[in-house]
Amino acid sequence: MTKQKVLVTGGAGYIGSHACVELLEAGFEVVVVDNLSNSKPESLARVQKITGKTLSFYQTDIRDHAALTDIFAKEAPDTVIHFAGLKAVGESCEQPLLYYHNNVYGTLVLVEVMTAANVKQLVFSSSATVYGESSSPQYSEHFPLGAINPYGRSKAMIEDILRDLSAADHKNQVQNPWKIALLRYFNPIGAHSSGLIGEDPNGIPNNLMPYIAQVAIGKLSQLSVFGDDYPTPDGTGIRDYIHVVDLVKGHLKAITALNGDKFKDGACNAYNLGAGRGYSVLEMVHAFERVTGKTINYKISPRRAGDLAECFANPELAWQELDWKVEKNLDDMVADTWHWQTLNPMGYV
Ligand SMILES: NC(=O)c1ccc[n+]([C@@H]2O[C@H](COP(=O)([O-])OP(=O)(O)OC[C@H]3O[C@@H](n4cnc5c(N)ncnc54)[C@H](O)[C@@H]3O)[C@@H](O)[C@H]2O)c1
Repeated sequence: MTKQKVLVTGGAGYIGSHACVELLEAGFEVVVVDNLSNSKPESLARVQKITGKTLSFYQTDIRDHAALTDIFAKEAPDTVIHFAGLKAVGESCEQPLLYYHNNVYGTLVLVEVMTAANVKQLVFSSSATVYGESSSPQYSEHFPLGAINPYGRSKAMIEDILRDLSAADHKNQVQNPWKIALLRYFNPIGAHSSGLIGEDPNGIPNNLMPYIAQVAIGKLSQLSVFGDDYPTPDGTGIRDYIHVVDLVKGHLKAITALNGDKFKDGACNAYNLGAGRGYSVLEMVHAFERVTGKTINYKISPRRAGDLAECFANPELAWQELDWKVEKNLDDMVADTWHWQTLNPMGYV
């Protein structure tokens, strides 16, 4: 079989760069399309350094229909992994149009171009933020959707668009139907074990782990723990954290599934990618202190509106249908984050 070619949108970003490493190491050809709005080309230089292999890179916005059409004509990929998107919940509340335009319209352009090029295999970066209120803290794919901010709604809208595309192909019994995996990530953290690539947030990090790491290295002075009066064992919020390398391996498993019997007649299926267990904020802080020997300066602050007490994945569907399970543990996530942070205290600059 000839080498499969994967076009990776957003491939210079945090998760995308880790996906490029795993794809190249597994023997795929890789084409990255990224406008570098939230990343640096250095990440791709490092991907090539880690793997000793080359990839093609186009600095292009996925909303540029003509440019994307040319890239598809030139590269003829077999599959697309679609990471390109804006991801900051707070910013999405301040600039909703930016989020809908970039994420929803960007995906519309992408799938139009894919349709025209007859490339109909897609792995999409969705998010646990698509889920609505639930009586159980452990979320399964069939739970009701009900995102509560523009970022989450942009992901939910994209999921709807992709489900509709697949349903239309099914109804029209088309020859080459859409095969789509919607991967709902929980909380990706950690970095490649080389320490060469990792999360390089612009400004103040939005997520807990990079925040803790920047406090540990002295870039930030104090961590705020929002709420210690939740109905959890230590009172702080519980989330499902997943090592970014485990997460991207789920994408390779999804490509295998799209090529297999399960998707033979076309389908659009959602899968949770999470560890299936949660850790509290204070457990994360203490794990960081234990693994790195650093003391984390933190203070307890009031709860934030909209935060849940506890949220973690039921990953059984991904175990069964993608043959995927997390392999790394909390200490790996912390040690790899710290390795990346200490080797690159200022990120990629
Ligand atoms: N990191 C998380 O916690 C998390 C959780 C759930 C889902 N996701 C989703 O996973 C995907 C990747 O996240 P990440 O953490 O790697 O983010 P990231 O910001 O590091 O990577 C996204 C990449 O997409 C690029 N991009 C954005 N808009 C683009 C456009 N219009 N055209 C071309 N390139 C564009 C950015 O420059 C960046 O390199 C995103 O879609 C995000 O919503 C992330």
